[in-house]
Amino acid sequence: MAFDLNQFVFDCRTALGQEPSHPAVREVVARAVSDPGAVLRGLGEPTRGGIYVLHQSPELTILNVVWAPWMTLLPHNHMLWAVIGIYTGREDNVFWRRIGGAPGGRVEAARARALSVGDAEPLGRDVIHSVTNPIPRLTGALHIYGGDFFAVSRSEWDPETLLEQPTDGARMARRLEDANALFVKS
Ligand SMILES: [Fe+2]
Repeated sequence: MAFDLNQFVFDCRTALGQEPSHPAVREVVARAVSDPGAVLRGLGEPTRGGIYVLHQSPELTILNVVWAPWMTLLPHNHMLWAVIGIYTGREDNVFWRRIGGAPGGRVEAARARALSVGDAEPLGRDVIHSVTNPIPRLTGALHIYGGDFFAVSRSEWDPETLLEQPTDGARMARRLEDANALFVKS
């Protein structure tokens, strides 16, 4: 079956209308990535890493996230529930927990989850994760968030010190571009 972006957005919004959390949306995402070839055809084969906005509203954000080969994105939170559905490649997620809990503090690794094509992983609102693309080609995933992803103040944790700092959108975009530059050179 073909993947139709407008239909996908409609289905996610309908699911969200049924229940204000992620289980029903997760079903929609799972159904989409169960036919990853259709998603690839629908969105187009990714050619470079980046975050592409497919839908943005106060209740729901849908991103097409493409990770450059080998890139790791530092630990960060979203302050929204999320669902990640992989349609090409792989994503290794490390989940982190705060030590102590004071703002500005460190995190420690708690568990890991290897995501493959067809997986639709739900993430709770307070989840902190880092993401690695462990393969030598682009990874593509649908990322759905229960709110306006770009309107929320979030945190990231320095990859060397593991200390909390506010997320800066421009810095985040630069990281993706740096990963692309390495990818293009290699
Ligand atoms: Fe994330």
